[in-house]
Amino acid sequence: MNEFDLIVIGGGPGGYVAAIRASQLGLKVALIEKRATLGGTCLNVGCIPSKALLDSSEAYHQAKSSFARHGVQIGDVKLDLGTMMARKDSVVKGLTQGVAGLMKKNKVTVFTGIGKLVPPSGATHKVQVGEQTLSAPRVLLATGSEPTRIPTVPFDGKFIVDSTGAIAFDKVPKHLIVIGGGYIGLELGSVWARLGSKVTVLEFLPRIFPLADAEIADAAHKSLMKLGLTFQLETKVESATVQGNEVVVKVTGKTGPAEFRADKVLVAVGRRPYSGGLGLTEVGVKLEERTGVVPVNEDFETNIKGIYAIGDLIPGPMLAHKAEEDGVAFAERLKGIKTKIHYDRIPSVIYIWPEIASVGPTEEEVKKTGREYRVGKFPLLYSPRAKCMDEAEGMVKVLADAKNDKLLAVHIFGPRASDMIAEAVAVMEFGGSAEDIGRICHAHPTLSEALKEAALGVDKRAIHM
Ligand code: NAI
Repeated sequence: MNEFDLIVIGGGPGGYVAAIRASQLGLKVALIEKRATLGGTCLNVGCIPSKALLDSSEAYHQAKSSFARHGVQIGDVKLDLGTMMARKDSVVKGLTQGVAGLMKKNKVTVFTGIGKLVPPSGATHKVQVGEQTLSAPRVLLATGSEPTRIPTVPFDGKFIVDSTGAIAFDKVPKHLIVIGGGYIGLELGSVWARLGSKVTVLEFLPRIFPLADAEIADAAHKSLMKLGLTFQLETKVESATVQGNEVVVKVTGKTGPAEFRADKVLVAVGRRPYSGGLGLTEVGVKLEERTGVVPVNEDFETNIKGIYAIGDLIPGPMLAHKAEEDGVAFAERLKGIKTKIHYDRIPSVIYIWPEIASVGPTEEEVKKTGREYRVGKFPLLYSPRAKCMDEAEGMVKVLADAKNDKLLAVHIFGPRASDMIAEAVAVMEFGGSAEDIGRICHAHPTLSEALKEAALGVDKRAIHM
C-alpha cells in the first residue's frame, strides 16, 4: 500500500508542483511534508506572508503620504497591526488550503512528518515518515533552504530573528536593525519603516542588492533612504547580545568599531540548502561540503540512481518560480520529455516599492564579457500612466547586442515592475530583439509603454523623451 512510483520529500513550490506534474503524467505519487500545511517556506513564512504585509504596509504608507495629493482627505490614519497580521494569516491559510485541494484533485497521497531516507538504497528506495515506511524506485528531494546563521548573532526568536520572526512582530519595533541589504532585509525593512520603525541596515559590501544592476540598485538605494531607512555600508557585524529589552550590535565600520542598539534585529544574510536530517550521507548522496548544495545532472539526478533534487537544494537562484520550473522539468524528463530550463532567463523581483524586476545579466556582467552592447533607458517621469498614478519614480533599462540587436537583459525599477518584466522574459524566450519590443503595440496609457520606449531607446528612437 505504501509503494509509490515517486516519493517527493518537501511540499514547497518545487515539491508540490513536481508531484502534480508527475501525477498528471500517470505516476503514483507520495508527498511528504513536515509542516502541518503545504506550500513550504514560500506560502507559509516567505513570499506570500511578506507580500501580504508589503501590500498592506504600502496601503498604510500611501494613505498617510500620498492620498492627499490625489485629493483624498481621510483625516487621522491609524494602524491596526492586529488586523494587518490577521489578514496576512488568512491569505496564507487560503493559499495553503488551496494546495491541499490540488493534491486531492491530482490524487497525490500526502504524509505529514519528517521524511528520511533509509539505507541501503538499491533499485527501490525507502523513506521513513513517522511510523510508516514508504518505498519507490524514485525519490525527489525538494526540501528547500534555511536562513544562513551568523554564529556571533544567535537567533533567539524574540529579539534577534530571521524572516519568519520579522513577519510576525506583535508591535511595531521602535528601532529595527537589519543585517544584510538584500532581498529579505530590504523587503521587510520597508514593511517596518512604512509602519513607523526606525530602520538601520548594516551591509557588509559597499552597496545594497549586490546581485542587481548597479544603476538600478543605486536608484533603489536613494528611494529607500527617502522612505527613511539608513544604511551603514562596508560594515562587518561582529556580535549581537541581548541586554535587558534591547540588542547591542557591535560592528566594525569604515571608521572603525561602533555599536548600535535596537529593540529588534533581523538577520537576513542569505539562505543555504536545507539538506540536514534527510539521511543523505547514510545513503551516499554527495553534497558540496561548504555550501550544502546537492549536485545533480540534467535530469536532476544526484550521484545515487533514482534519487533526485530540485529547487533551493541545487545550484541556481533560490526562487520559488525557479523551483516550480525545476519541478515540472524533473517530472517531464522522468517520462522522457526533454524539457530544458533557460536558467539565464529566470526573472527576479525585489518587492520594495517601487519594485525592482530584472531578467538577464546586469550591465556590469555584460561589460565583463567584452560583448558589444547598446543600452536604452526610459525614466518613468515621462510615462503618462506613471504620472496619473503619482508613481513616476524609476526607470526601465534595456540591454541589447550591438551587432544583432538581440535582447540581452531588462532591468526595471518602477511600480508593478514585477508584472512588467513578463513581457521581457517572453521576448527573450523567443530569441527576440529590442526592436521586436519597440514594434509591438502597447496599450495606452499603461506602464508597459515604458518598456517599449526603452527598447526604442536602444536605437536612439524613443518617441516620448
Ligand atoms: P541576499 O543574498 O539577498 O542578501 C544578503 C545580503 O547580506 C547581501 O547583500 C550580503 O552582502 C549581506 N551580508 C552577508 N553577510 C553579511 C554580514 N555578516 N553582515 C552584513 N551583511 C552581510 O539574502 P536574503 O535577503 O537573506 O535572502 C535570501 C534569499 O531568499 C535570496 O537570495 C532570494 O533567493 C530569496 N528571497 C527572494 C525574494 C524575492 O524573490 N523577492 C524575497 C526574499 C527572499
